[in-house]
Amino acid sequence: MLKGFKNAAELDFTLEENAKKIEEAFRQVDAEKGKIYPLIIGGERIETEKKITSISPSTKEVLGYACSCSQELADKAVQAANEAFKTWSVAPVEERIRCLRRLTALLEENRYILDAWNVEESGKNWGEADGELCEALDFFNSYAMHMRKLAEGLELVPTDEDTKCTYIPIGVGAIIPPWNFPLSICGGMVASALVTGNTVICKPSSDTPIVAYKFIELCEKAGFPVGTVNYIPGSGSDIGDYIVEHPLTRFINFTGSKVVGCRINERAAKISEGQRWIKRVVAEMGGKNAIIVDSSANIKKAAQGIVNSAFTFQGQKCSACSRAIVMCDVYDELVDAVVDCAKELKENQGSGRSNAPMGPVINENAYKSITEYVEIARQEGNIVYGGNYSDAEGYYIEPTVVRDITRDARIANEEIFGPVLAVIKVESFDEALDIANQTEYGLTGSVYSEDRENIQKAKVQFHVGNLYFNRKSTAAVVLQHPFGGFNMSGTDAKTGTSDYLTNFLNLKSITEDL
Ligand code: NAD
Ligand code: ALA
Repeated sequence: MLKGFKNAAELDFTLEENAKKIEEAFRQVDAEKGKIYPLIIGGERIETEKKITSISPSTKEVLGYACSCSQELADKAVQAANEAFKTWSVAPVEERIRCLRRLTALLEENRYILDAWNVEESGKNWGEADGELCEALDFFNSYAMHMRKLAEGLELVPTDEDTKCTYIPIGVGAIIPPWNFPLSICGGMVASALVTGNTVICKPSSDTPIVAYKFIELCEKAGFPVGTVNYIPGSGSDIGDYIVEHPLTRFINFTGSKVVGCRINERAAKISEGQRWIKRVVAEMGGKNAIIVDSSANIKKAAQGIVNSAFTFQGQKCSACSRAIVMCDVYDELVDAVVDCAKELKENQGSGRSNAPMGPVINENAYKSITEYVEIARQEGNIVYGGNYSDAEGYYIEPTVVRDITRDARIANEEIFGPVLAVIKVESFDEALDIANQTEYGLTGSVYSEDRENIQKAKVQFHVGNLYFNRKSTAAVVLQHPFGGFNMSGTDAKTGTSDYLTNFLNLKSITEDL
């Protein structure tokens, strides 16, 4: 079945015509700066007094204002989604798939402007933004393909009764994405719910509400009926708990931090008055990912993989490597090689718009939290590269490499979500695996080794949702590396797969005696 599936190809921005097109899109973004983005509830645009200011992390410039949703309006959105569910849930599967196909085409048509907004709002560079757009396209194409297959129902043993076991949608979903993949994660979560016949209220991150707005507008244009997709930005404290606890909310699809994911899981488990189901929660959360380097590894390749995994998009990917666990006999050589690779990044740090290989971290709070960790790192080990930061023009932190970190150090255990790499020395491969597994998380991991015995051991014992060998720990590709984590990294709902869609479906078994 996968034969017909092809992953989307990223744009080559070294080609002048592509570079010109994104420059033109930036000019369009400039012309739109300062706009107000209303809520979208049941197709209606609603402006509220309270606003969320979207700020460029690269320059601190105001990009626009998203209206902030109140609990009253959040209730209106849930009611609108619940009303739309009555017809959308029984719409032919082909109609749902057609809308998703149109959405895919619209994403391609609006590619440069979506990339440009993503660069401005999240601070990532052009390649990272377009890679994300490709991931969104891949999600849409894969979910359309899987839904067509799921619509056939379950295969059953033939009997003299007529039995069918059919997948049916479950209800209104609260979609709660993070800011770091404002298009692909938000888009994948919304699309998977819609194609399975559910309806959604989407509460985007307050850091990236404009990219989310642009995406929801495209959903409308794609023909998803009024009320099936509702856009309600708002802080976690204003409406987060409210939408999770709402009795008409049937499921919550969340991606974000462990703290918020666990809070949502707990609150969703409590039955609200009038609620008629046990809510389903998909929660994909943080990571404290490790790359192990053993004595047999190609050190140059390992160093490149570590630097790429630790510092691309400023270490703000859930899949980012924040611990390098290295055998003692190659430790010094590896640290030197990592520093060499990181030099190129530090020297070329700049804004997302300038397409620098490394840009800013997302906002003032992240800047404060990460720079606190840089200071903790100074006490816990030896910073051999980076360690400086400035928020004069945007939120910039140098790629920071810290050696001589012990396994119980805070920077070896807590998710930093920034460009800080702890390098830990070990005496044996078993010790390396033990340290890699000591975290409460279990998202990604990688091993650089040419030793088959070690590789085999790690395949069994390294306990993460996405394990790689002789390759970086980031950049999973849809249906090539199904993505999702173990333990406190989440519910392991592997995105892009057919299994993923079944989180938002019930199976109905219908039997007629003939
Ligand atoms: P976050 O947890 O702070 O916020 C995520 C979303 O939850 C936002 O939309 C936020 O507004 C909302 N929220 C906050 N409080 C809420 C509440 N009480 N109820 C409901 N919603 C609430 O995370 P973030 O800073 O946006 O993203 C970074 C985190 O996400 C990191 O920990 C990263 O590892 C993780 N992440 C995980 C994956 C994955 O696939 N496992 C992917 C991307 C990011
Ligand atoms: N899925 C993204 C990656 O693999 C987060 O890097």
